[in-house]
Amino acid sequence: MKYEIKCSVCNKSLSSLLAFKCPSCGGPLDVELGFNFDPDKIRTSNYSLWRYEQFFPYAQERKIITLSEGWTPLVKFSDNVYAKLESGNPTGSFKDRGSTVLVSALHELIKEAEGYISEDSSGNAGASMAAYAARAGLKAKIYVPETVAGPKFNQIQFYGAQVTKISGGRARVAEEAQKMERRKFYVGHILHPLFRDGMRSLAYELLEQFGWSVPERIYLPVSAGTLLLGVINGFKHLSDSKEIDVLPKIVACQTEQVSPLYHLFKGLKYDPPETITSVADALVSVKPPLLDMMVKRLKEVKGDAVMVTEGEIIEAFLELARSGFFVEPSSAVAFAGYKKQLHTNVSSKHNNVAIILTGNGLKTTLKPT
Ligand SMILES: Cc1ncc(COP(=O)(O)O)c(C=O)c1O
Ligand SMILES: [Zn+2]
Repeated sequence: MKYEIKCSVCNKSLSSLLAFKCPSCGGPLDVELGFNFDPDKIRTSNYSLWRYEQFFPYAQERKIITLSEGWTPLVKFSDNVYAKLESGNPTGSFKDRGSTVLVSALHELIKEAEGYISEDSSGNAGASMAAYAARAGLKAKIYVPETVAGPKFNQIQFYGAQVTKISGGRARVAEEAQKMERRKFYVGHILHPLFRDGMRSLAYELLEQFGWSVPERIYLPVSAGTLLLGVINGFKHLSDSKEIDVLPKIVACQTEQVSPLYHLFKGLKYDPPETITSVADALVSVKPPLLDMMVKRLKEVKGDAVMVTEGEIIEAFLELARSGFFVEPSSAVAFAGYKKQLHTNVSSKHNNVAIILTGNGLKTTLKPT
């Protein structure tokens, strides 16, 4: 068995790559890997995510749809702190890892059925999926919240996708995207196991770029949890394959307004605000469908969670920009989380730390003052 798509709740095994939830219990799906990570199988002459083609067997068997995503720079920020510039991906965010893997695996199946893809997103995943659909010659319909950031809304349209604004909160947007329609294939990045599975590649890259040593801590922003869960799975795969003997401390960073994971992980009660006004416009999932999975897996790998205020986000955003790293405020949340743990002596001043800078600053609607 090279891989298996399985329900994370009832363990049902599925044969279709197109499934986005369990047909028996509705639970979220996972990709289970039946092979080891093997450094000898890396295509070292390929400077993109597809150097790991052998470790994505369901895509490898098909025509790969790529814009040369992944293998993003790992840049020294200070003595022991490194920034992973996911903002340098083709559409400006880490989402391209998920899109290239998902679209590569599915585009032929959807074309054979003369279908089109449907996706819901706060902006970045929609832009990314629209780009890879364009690259594959597939039609895409992207559903976004009314509050979508202008630059992301424009980007989706420039890729040629049809984009629809939906009012009434993030869950309503997902509902609309999932509504059954003829020839519609829902590939929503939050639920689709292949999108999340693409994030595994980030763990492989970090290990390679740190010279096969595991960083002590990794800080990343969390909303729906695809990045967090994918990175955890990647490091677990490396550990199960005996390539590493310790796991990094993975720290999930959330905003005060949107912090369901932080609260549940710490055993605290979370009351989401009625409307979200955070500058971190990509972090909007107050009730993420994968919340239970996130808490379970973060506990399994002995990770941590941290919550930051709006003031801390802006401060981190400006400090990054004034050091030459222009990222989205949503990405600055990870740096703010690191700074908070550093000030309270939770994070190390000496051992290697990676901050995942998830999205490009050109996507922000903030104005300089
Ligand atoms: C720039 C940016 N950072 C972080 C995230 C959070 O990722 P996830 O929803 O997978 O938790 C998103 C999600 O939209 C994003 O666009
Ligand atoms: Zn199930």
